[in-house]
Amino acid sequence: MKKRLVISTGAGISAESGISTFRDAGGLWENYPVMDVCSADGFARNPALVHKFYNERRKSLVDCQPNAAHKALVELEKWYDVYVITQNVDDLHERAGSGNVLHLHGELMKVRSLRHPERTYTLGGEEVAITTPGIDDPLVTTPESRDPYGDPVRPHIVFFQEAVPNIEPAIDLAAKADIFVVIGTSLVVYPAAGLLHYVRPGVPVYYIDPNPAAVPDYVTVIPEKATAGVQKLVELLRPKSAV
Ligand code: APR
Repeated sequence: MKKRLVISTGAGISAESGISTFRDAGGLWENYPVMDVCSADGFARNPALVHKFYNERRKSLVDCQPNAAHKALVELEKWYDVYVITQNVDDLHERAGSGNVLHLHGELMKVRSLRHPERTYTLGGEEVAITTPGIDDPLVTTPESRDPYGDPVRPHIVFFQEAVPNIEPAIDLAAKADIFVVIGTSLVVYPAAGLLHYVRPGVPVYYIDPNPAAVPDYVTVIPEKATAGVQKLVELLRPKSAV
């Protein structure tokens, strides 16, 4: 029976793939008023601006690749049941080959119906489900975009002021972890930042971040960038019997 390795990742794991973090110097929130482009009020106020913001992020994402840290997490699946809980909206964990990825804050490559939120559509795929008058770029949506049912769509992103629907399954995973790892997050946004506190006492916890936030002293901090830190983690977690 493989041990459950639960890994909670933030923007830092994608930094070395060329994707800006949010709160580092020059981060996304330094260049955009977060409540204009990533809040329920902001979307109600100016949906065109929000669509434009996510169109730009989608276009840069397709040119980015998973980095060695994303790939090393896949390697750990050889010896552990690995579950990734990510605050990231990019698809780099999936593109690296991770089998179990739970997105807490949504998925950048997806949009969903405004009227039927259970209807989600992946942009840039084979089937073109979303049509936008006068625009044939499959990665671009506007308030005029329509799904196959004729409904307007919105980014499949959890905005500030909105509930985090996947937090319950995430808490369940943290509570069942045999090893818990946090990678590349400033631990300032809840409820994601609180997952650490659901880990059972005595379960080893690791935190990989070059500029780590304050964490309880039972956490083993690896103060490295993700690519170097995850390599160290693999050496620590590789079973002795494994070559
Ligand atoms: N490797 C690992 N960690 C890194 C690297 C790197 N190369 N570069 C930066 N970091 C770390 C920073 O030290 C910081 O702790 O990544 C973290 C980035 O923190 P934030 O920018 O706050 O990103 P995150 O914690 O993921 O933000 C959480 O806030 O705005 C919301 O929805 C957004 O999901 C996001 C949430």
